[in-house]
Amino acid sequence: MTSKIRKIGVLTSGGDSPGMNAAIRSVVRTCAYHNVECVGIYRGYQGMIEGDFKEMGPRTVNNIINKGGTVLKSARSKEFMTVEGRKKAHENLVAAGVDALVVIGGDGSFTGAEVFNSEYGFPVMGIPGTIDNDIFGTSHTLGYDTALNTVVDCIDKIRDTASSHNRLFLVEVMGRDAGHIALNAGIGAGAEEILIPEEDLGLERLLESLRKSKASGKSSSIVVIAEGDKIGKNVFELKDYIEENFPEYDIRVSVLGHMQRGGSPSCYDRVLASRFGVKAVESLLEGKSNYMVGMLNDKVALTPLEQAIKGSSEIDKELLRVSDIMTT
Ligand code: F6P
Repeated sequence: MTSKIRKIGVLTSGGDSPGMNAAIRSVVRTCAYHNVECVGIYRGYQGMIEGDFKEMGPRTVNNIINKGGTVLKSARSKEFMTVEGRKKAHENLVAAGVDALVVIGGDGSFTGAEVFNSEYGFPVMGIPGTIDNDIFGTSHTLGYDTALNTVVDCIDKIRDTASSHNRLFLVEVMGRDAGHIALNAGIGAGAEEILIPEEDLGLERLLESLRKSKASGKSSSIVVIAEGDKIGKNVFELKDYIEENFPEYDIRVSVLGHMQRGGSPSCYDRVLASRFGVKAVESLLEGKSNYMVGMLNDKVALTPLEQAIKGSSEIDKELLRVSDIMTT
């Protein structure tokens, strides 16, 4: 492969996700494979502004494929949203001889990459890393599969105690704007009801469903709630509301929180990360820029960053129906 690119910078930005380390490893080793230098940029765009760089070779990424989090650390940089911040970042990249960037993150990170590319014509390539799976142009983001497995594992444990005490559990999962985790983990864990930001189920329907479930002989239930659901009450207010309507229910709340973002990546996420890293580096070396690498129809494919940012990753309505039928 002949290319003008001699040194590639890699960073992780936004909320971390399992599989980010496997993607860093893949970027670094693909660079080495093609005799291109690689520089790790710490703390996302903030490290770019502060010149927090470290040369990375294939042996510097030993033993990280199995680790959660990100060895490069992550940040949500306010300064990079300013013209001055991006100018400093550009100066640092030029001084370090970096001539292309791989950005591992979510849509906020991609917006930063796109703006930077439009201002400086700097070659950029995105790798989708977020547990939320809310990025257009890929069926899976890095960390999503691991987070689903973590959530299902937690709910399985909650189910043990819920059924021992005949209790109703409200389990809040991550997803400010997206219900992919709630919907898929909810089905996988056999939840009674699933509340997601994309659909306003309405309080009445929830009560009706709980009424039916009690009448059908179920003695314990699990309701999975995405943190950004549109029902208009937080999970603790919802508990109070259900208790007012069903004093006979013994209800507990469990907020899974950031444990969903940690842990060793699943095999699926490790393979995905390895494939994404290879494609990102090789696409840059082929002279492509301003794309996101993703998985479409089980093939690694590129989507223009602009589309990845603007497009929305729709909820699969079939899953809603499956969930409804499973609660019969
Ligand atoms: O975007 C990933 C995510 O984990 C969301 O699901 C969640 O709403 C948010 O990040 C939490 O962000 P923070 O770690 O900044 O509290």
